[in-house]
Amino acid sequence: MNRRILVLLSVLMVAMLALTACPGSSSTPADSGSSDTASSGGDAASSGDAASTEGTKITAVMGSTIREGEQAAIDYCIEQTGLEVEVVNGPESATDRIAQYLQFFGAQSSDVDVLMIDVIWPGILAEHLIDLSPYVDNPDDYFQRIIQNNTVDGALVGIPWFTDAGLLYYRTDLLEKYGYDAPPTTWSELQEMATKIQEGERADNPDFWGFVWQGNAYEGLTCDALEWQVSNGGGEIVEADGTISINNEYAAAAFDQAAGWVDTISPPGVVSYQEEDARGVWQAGNAAFMRNWPYAYSLGNADDSAIKGNLAVVPLPKGDGPDARNADTLGGWQMAVSKYSEHPEAAGQFAACIAGKDAQKLLAIGDSKLPTIGSLYEDAEVLDKNPFFSQLFDVFNGGAVARPSTVTSDKYNEVSTIYFTEVNKVLTGAQTGQQAVESIESQLQDLLQ
Ligand code: GLC
Repeated sequence: MNRRILVLLSVLMVAMLALTACPGSSSTPADSGSSDTASSGGDAASSGDAASTEGTKITAVMGSTIREGEQAAIDYCIEQTGLEVEVVNGPESATDRIAQYLQFFGAQSSDVDVLMIDVIWPGILAEHLIDLSPYVDNPDDYFQRIIQNNTVDGALVGIPWFTDAGLLYYRTDLLEKYGYDAPPTTWSELQEMATKIQEGERADNPDFWGFVWQGNAYEGLTCDALEWQVSNGGGEIVEADGTISINNEYAAAAFDQAAGWVDTISPPGVVSYQEEDARGVWQAGNAAFMRNWPYAYSLGNADDSAIKGNLAVVPLPKGDGPDARNADTLGGWQMAVSKYSEHPEAAGQFAACIAGKDAQKLLAIGDSKLPTIGSLYEDAEVLDKNPFFSQLFDVFNGGAVARPSTVTSDKYNEVSTIYFTEVNKVLTGAQTGQQAVESIESQLQDLLQ
């Protein structure tokens, strides 16, 4: 890339960031008590020299919407580190976010210091990130699977911040009303229950649907579709040893089954739904079941929710294939520091604090985000707000299914784009499941072999 384009790109990025900057969250350090706090939290930065970074201004790209728990964690870490932190909201869709990050890193801009990165991105972004291991006092406290996931060529390029797993949300009141004593354990059972509840509820509520999920052509569909195919014994797209396994009847059947939900138990618009679209329908009281991540739990139980107190979560259902199993996709976010930052020390301190135990606890209590530190699953305040954390601990600690991002590394984004594009075409009726698995296989062969 020539220099002029680079300069132009970085000007553009600065303009974009300025536009998305969230002035309400831009904060300055607390006046009092900030000088000796950088190392007092126990899990704030260990190598940080508070005196040298005190008052340094850094920019952090955080969630698309900063909710209660995240805001509390940010405020806490500003106080702990004595830094001035400008918070920028990143794009909501992971697919849009990686495009923005790549553009930004391509310009080697120093405008961003800290950024949250998806669990599938270490292999794609490692070359632009610093090694954060000197900032983490207690690496053994974290889920080791995620530490390994985030370690590239010996460097810890992201500190595990929160983990994620796809879950089935269901309406406890409606299951009872329609005579069911337990949530569905197979997709066929879910279809039956969703159909019956939808028929009944439509009498009073024409907007009611059985099941909402994420069908838009973006990273979220890769998560949903991987759950359908793994739960039906259809493999993991590209296996850990590099074998491209997608072309099989169980994966094809799983996609066809999901296509059958569109405009029957799921709204026709589900083929362009992302997480927040599904949550909108669900939380308004217009769906019996929803597939979503844990963040939707606290919001569903908030005072302004139509379904407060009437929801619960379980692992997603199994398929019918011979190797059918429960499958919940592993998601989650890490705190990373840009190699192009002019304040790597301050940025490292902030990243370590926000992904440290105290801040993770605030995030779990406020936003029902799953900690990456095992001991928080035994914390009474955390469990009081989120009883499902302990019930589903095995899913969250190692049981969830990873997308093939380690094996495909820096090619993962292309792998996922091929996959979600073809699966979305099955959902919209443009092709069959069998056509999709053949097409994905041949495109992956070209890309990976
Ligand atoms: C959630 C997950 C993330 C995933 C994304 C897809 O944010 O934590 O891993 O890529 O959803 O929409």
